[in-house]
Amino acid sequence: MDDELQRGILVIDYGSQTTLLIARRLREIGVYAEIWSCHDSRLALPPPALGIILSGGPASVCGETAPRLAESVIACGRPVLGICYGMQLVVERLGGTVAPGAATEYGRVRVRQVDPGAALFASRPADGSVVWMSHGDAAVTVPEPLAVTARTENGAVAAVEARGRPLFGVQFHPEVTHTEHGREWLRRFACDLCGAADAWSAANLIDEKVAAIAAAVGDDRAILAFSGGVDSTVAAALGSRAIGRRLVCILVDNGLLRHGEADQVRRCFLDRFDVELRVVEAQQRFLDALAGVGDPEAKRKAIGKTFIDVFEQEARRVEGARFLVQGTLYPDVIESVSVRGPAAAIKSHHNVGGLPGQLPFALIEPLRNLFKDEVRQLGRSLGIPEALLGRHPFPGPGLAVRILGEVTADKLAIARAADRIFIEMLREHGLYDQVWQALAVLLPVRTVGVMGDARTYDAVVALRAVTSLDGMTADRAGLPIAFLGAVADRIVNGVKGVSRVVYDLTSKPPATIEWE
Ligand code: XMP
Repeated sequence: MDDELQRGILVIDYGSQTTLLIARRLREIGVYAEIWSCHDSRLALPPPALGIILSGGPASVCGETAPRLAESVIACGRPVLGICYGMQLVVERLGGTVAPGAATEYGRVRVRQVDPGAALFASRPADGSVVWMSHGDAAVTVPEPLAVTARTENGAVAAVEARGRPLFGVQFHPEVTHTEHGREWLRRFACDLCGAADAWSAANLIDEKVAAIAAAVGDDRAILAFSGGVDSTVAAALGSRAIGRRLVCILVDNGLLRHGEADQVRRCFLDRFDVELRVVEAQQRFLDALAGVGDPEAKRKAIGKTFIDVFEQEARRVEGARFLVQGTLYPDVIESVSVRGPAAAIKSHHNVGGLPGQLPFALIEPLRNLFKDEVRQLGRSLGIPEALLGRHPFPGPGLAVRILGEVTADKLAIARAADRIFIEMLREHGLYDQVWQALAVLLPVRTVGVMGDARTYDAVVALRAVTSLDGMTADRAGLPIAFLGAVADRIVNGVKGVSRVVYDLTSKPPATIEWE
């Protein structure tokens, strides 16, 4: 990754909620960007990047334990842009003062450009534009060589630049979309002031990634835990190009998949890629592990453990395999290096990213520096069918977290049938691609109904469909009521054991997408 970084921008993370967005915006512009924690030991040396951005962060530069600016960053002479906390670090480092509570600003603020010659705003003046702020401390004295280039309507320092040195600071967050010209100012910094080209695209990486896998594996074999999801599919496609049939993909059929999914994935994939696929039929093992388990976290743990056991057993059968290819994505990597430590666990999402370290394989993670949409781009360039790339996310524990309470074979059959109807009808009505994720949940509730002339006393299915960008937040999808009615009719008439269907109207937060 160092090669790419030499042509790109390094973002140093001080723990802001929006650090990831800085890297994302730069990549959207076409500039390669990588995030390092402010505690990264590599910062002892001058960072090998064209320019450096210092992120915001929750600490106060006035605090004794606050993370500091590494000397190597200033000493390397490359352009530096400090954002929020990052700007305050620059101000402090150059002899200025920052005071807690001197100007507290949250949300949208209008700025005045007070220096018409500000280099950062040369392509798009800041005067009168709306920016997004989130800070409690503020810069109060800004000595030479720094100069204030923009202020907020309240007179607080909004941007600074150094005379004769490539040091810039903005108190606001250019990476959030509420900052009107934020993207242009990031482009100005990266391309014009640092000299980065804007030609980077995930698709350009194919040859490089393929060569890296081939070099790492050499004449050995590698295995890959294949789920049929976008990440493992793209990782498998890269692996297949690199080492062909020396890549063995292992698909664990846990019996918690959707109707026909294992077959569909198998066909779709094998039609296109020349790798070996081993499917482990482990349905009963998972059902046994789930017997009597009703608590959502206990269910996830039981599934996770069983997955690891089954996978490990199969992996050890692949003779000569010394490598494990994993589709770990950038946000997963960032979570683990963040200054805050892993985000507080709301659900212990364990998918293949959670394979234990004690497996006797060296890890290869070709997607480690990519975001989900970049992985999709890469997948497209690799010729992976849109039908696979565009599939709704499906959780690792599958239907088990869509059956509230204990999972049994009977309940699985009901949940699978209801889900199948919902998804098929979304496709039939051209609505599938308009929602980010849709699901059917089997509730542990029985209600009275009437069918023919007889009383029924059967289960309730809840339908949920959400729109979202990344699954972190989500909104209820406004599916037409006539459509929902038709789905309800088909489920109640077609799935034995269901007497009522409801639609979930909650957004995330406060609810999560899955019900467990
Ligand atoms: P929640 O329910 O937390 O879900 O709003 C956000 C996204 O994550 C998926 N999800 C999971 N994925 N293992 C996974 O691999 C899990 O245990 C898990 N739980 C939720 C969920 O489907 C949604 O896309």
